Amino acid sequence: MRIVLLGMPGVGKGTQARLLSLRKGLVQIATGDLLRQEVENGTELGKTAKQYMDQGELVPDQVIIQMMEKYLDEAERKGGYLLDGFPRTVEQAKALDEHLERNGKKLDYVLALVTPEEEVVTRLAGRLTCLNCGATYHQKNNPPKTFGTCDVCSSRLQTRADDDPEAVRNRLRVYLEKSAPLVDYYRAKSILREIDASGTIEEVYDRIQSVLEA
Ligand code: AP5
Repeated sequence: MRIVLLGMPGVGKGTQARLLSLRKGLVQIATGDLLRQEVENGTELGKTAKQYMDQGELVPDQVIIQMMEKYLDEAERKGGYLLDGFPRTVEQAKALDEHLERNGKKLDYVLALVTPEEEVVTRLAGRLTCLNCGATYHQKNNPPKTFGTCDVCSSRLQTRADDDPEAVRNRLRVYLEKSAPLVDYYRAKSILREIDASGTIEEVYDRIQSVLEA
């Protein structure tokens, strides 16, 4: 399967993508995690990306499109993927379409997770992230078993630099301006499914599951 997850920052894309990957064996490609890894490794790409990410701005399309070619090819060889954080602009969506066309493939679903803005602000304010393996937690909604420590790899949990209130406000503004138009882009292709992302993590997972099973 080839699936795209869309939605505001903090709506729960990464959380659901990780569950789908664990339970359904789908290959998750999370552009935010890939970029944070590049930043951590101090690569040229990481240095470029950091300037944008810390402000809550998007990394330029050409940088992302070039990075994604390699990961999409690899995932294609494994039989499909779940894209979390890509595409993020109509230009990126067109690049993905071209990649799919070249390989004679199509997207199966674009799942747009939807919840009110106040809810995503609360989710981001309590988020804890493992910068080693990418797992995410929430101080109240989804706490780790041991305070401050990742359940998966035992690394120390941190608050992401772009989760501070000012960067969050900017990310929401950038989402509305640059990423929200993707909903109409994919609706016009009749592959968009809107998922109510309010409620618990398991409730949202069940809604996604129903769509995929149908
Ligand atoms: P990225 O890491 O992709 O950030 P994002 O899209 O802003 O999404 P988030 O990771 O913040 O949120 P999420 O929806 O995954 O929510 P999560 O599951 O963690 O990108 C970061 C930056 O990289 C961008 O700003 C940009 O600079 C750059 N970038 C990345 N991709 C790019 C691209 N394609 N083009 C250009 N630039 C790009 O959940 C959030 C919290 O809520 C967690 O604490 C979680 O435990 C909790 N939670 C989840 N679900 C629920 C629930 N149902 N109930 C209660 N709590 C919940």
